[in-house]
Amino acid sequence: MLRAKITGIASYVPDDVLTNEELAQMVDTSDEWITTRVGIKERRILRAEGTGSSDLGAKALQSLIEKTGIDPREIEVIICATSNPDFRFPSTASIIAEKVGIKTTYGYDIQAACAGFLVALQAGAAYIQAGLYKKVVVIAAEKMSSMVNYKDRNTCPLFGDAAACVLLEPTEEECGVMDSVLHTDGMGLPHLVMTAGGSVRPASHTTIDKNEHYVYQDGRFVFKHAVADMISSSDAVMHRNGLTIDDVDYVIPHQANLRIIEAIAERFNIPEEKLLVNIQHYGNTSAASIPLCLAEYEHRFKKGDKFILTAFGAGFTWGAVYLVWGYDAK
Ligand code: UT7
Repeated sequence: MLRAKITGIASYVPDDVLTNEELAQMVDTSDEWITTRVGIKERRILRAEGTGSSDLGAKALQSLIEKTGIDPREIEVIICATSNPDFRFPSTASIIAEKVGIKTTYGYDIQAACAGFLVALQAGAAYIQAGLYKKVVVIAAEKMSSMVNYKDRNTCPLFGDAAACVLLEPTEEECGVMDSVLHTDGMGLPHLVMTAGGSVRPASHTTIDKNEHYVYQDGRFVFKHAVADMISSSDAVMHRNGLTIDDVDYVIPHQANLRIIEAIAERFNIPEEKLLVNIQHYGNTSAASIPLCLAEYEHRFKKGDKFILTAFGAGFTWGAVYLVWGYDAK
């Protein structure tokens, strides 16, 4: 059976760090509140004028090309998961390809909010399993700071900028993207949304005056659904593949709130060494959070390691992927 295996991973975060102490100078918050309620200490911000998610994604892709030694002309498809496209059109994938100097690929964006990496990974894997393509790059690139109101204490501590990407290639071995359980429930719309800037409420002086081009989140409501839905989808994908938590080597939940991650860990009784977390340094980087975490811990992974990746985001869109790692760390 043909499967899609991850044969390389890379990430990029901007150099500029925004600490909790700095945020406390900007809004009525404190390091203590952010640390205890969310588990974030700092996040990275892309500040350079005229730069966007594609700059983060291009840096991650350049690093993937260097790490894997792949000839960029061999990359057949680039799928970019982002909620922060450089422009409404064209796709950020096409801009990333241009920035990296790739003219021999095709690319498009996926909008699945914080679940974007899992949705894009599933799409990329399906191309490979169908025998359509042999080299697919899945990128998650998020300049989250572009949708954050740094006067709103409810949201400004939460998010950070990052990009990460993986190379998918075919394998006949028992590894790669093994299965996924993905869901959407559109009732999430009013609870996590940027209300203006789309076709329903195009940009106008009124929308700007009302701060409608920033992320709005009903935190408590989203929190409850994030916990329940990441648990149920992880449970479903493990059950379907005859796995218990003892069979799983690593769990990576979307990094939105340490308390959400801890609730998932508690439900499944996940030992500390199996739970991969880096929210404290990067905050919620939306679609980039899971591949950013994979990239950070790549040095630990061995061929055959079993992963449950689970994410939840706007829509609501959520799910879990069962992944088997394809190579030993160098
Ligand atoms: O990535 C996509 C999915 N997103 C998520 O999964 C995020 C889910 N939600 C959450 O992580 C949490 O709900 C938040 C971190 C957003 C908020 O934490 P919370 O524990 O749910 O706080 P809350 O919104 O219920 O607010 C509690 C209190 C409020 O004060 P009152 O009304 O009780 O007096 C807020 O005004 O904390 C206040 N508060 C703050 N205080 C200091 C809210 N933000 C801050 C802040 N600093 N930054």
